[in-house]
Amino acid sequence: MTASKAKTARVLTGDTPTGRLHLGHYVGSIENRLRLQEEYDCYFLLANMHAFTTRAERADEIRQDTIEIVKDWLACGVDPNRSTIVLQTETPAIAELSWFFAMLIPFNRVMRNPTLKTEIDAKGLGDTYPFGFPMYAVGQCADILAFRPEFVPVGEDQVAHIEMCREVARRFDQVYCGVDSHAEDEDFVSAGGVFPIPKALIGRVGRLVGTDGKQKMSKSLNNAIFLSDTPKQVKKKIGAMYPGQSREPNEPGDPDINPVFSFADIFIKDAAVVEEMKDRYRRGDDIGDGHVKMAVVDAVNALLDPIRERRAEFEGPEGDAMVIDIIREGTRKGNQVAEETLEMAKEAMSLKFWRRRVEFEQ
Ligand code: TRP
Repeated sequence: MTASKAKTARVLTGDTPTGRLHLGHYVGSIENRLRLQEEYDCYFLLANMHAFTTRAERADEIRQDTIEIVKDWLACGVDPNRSTIVLQTETPAIAELSWFFAMLIPFNRVMRNPTLKTEIDAKGLGDTYPFGFPMYAVGQCADILAFRPEFVPVGEDQVAHIEMCREVARRFDQVYCGVDSHAEDEDFVSAGGVFPIPKALIGRVGRLVGTDGKQKMSKSLNNAIFLSDTPKQVKKKIGAMYPGQSREPNEPGDPDINPVFSFADIFIKDAAVVEEMKDRYRRGDDIGDGHVKMAVVDAVNALLDPIRERRAEFEGPEGDAMVIDIIREGTRKGNQVAEETLEMAKEAMSLKFWRRRVEFEQ
């Protein structure tokens, strides 16, 4: 009933398939997507090309990771009847727009992108990364703008990319569509621009700490709780966390330096329960660290149980085939939007010579 009217504004976000999703992805971004798919026309991009920036020689692994990440999305509740799942490498308009945008952004501006810099450090890429590595940041502008979205729900670490994307959109609209350089961001389309200036939407938790209690939760740092972990694995991982201090149940403690409590804040739904535990912890009122951990284990497992159940429906090669059907349909639909965008961009760039059509074989 409300669908056709309210569902006009588009939302685009994506993930690079690097392995199974973890709790950091869930609270940083997935949760937001589930909310947004109720109200917006959502596109979720499988940025599989980006996976080749650091793993070009592991193509089979990237293919499987791409399928696994869709299983995670579906298990979390991404609904392919509502949202559109798009495969980047079968959306040629993205690659073409990347070239156009690469001409509009200074090389040094790309290299100053703080998210790229952090990644080069964190992954120890030194100066051996391929040309395609910084190029992916330009490609991400195209990932987004191909869908001319209003919102881009992402984790905090992606804000620098969204900012670059906004700069590219403004520049395109100014250079090719005659939009005034003083136009407000909201007015770019009404002033004749092809691209709206999209806004980042940051998740409830910008940065989830890992089970090491120190660094951001991340697969490569070995401190992650995966959405597909078994209840036993969850218990083991949380059980092994260092509570930031050494104390007895009847000794006063500081919940603020205990990373188990940051999990409690995020995953235990009833804030009063957490407050009471913190209060007892501060006073040393007969509360052991095991008690706090168990409460967190239960809350995390309560979140993950339905996700595990739905994920089981997509196990094995049959599940893979179901996923491929879903992404083929999504990509077909995604291409309609992306091709339309490309056509508009080409027209603005005096590149409209004739029309073309992208076709999908069954
Ligand atoms: N770079 C993003 C990440 O590492 C994934 C991504 C690719 C993306 N294209 C995107 C996110 C477009 C938002 C919009 O998480």
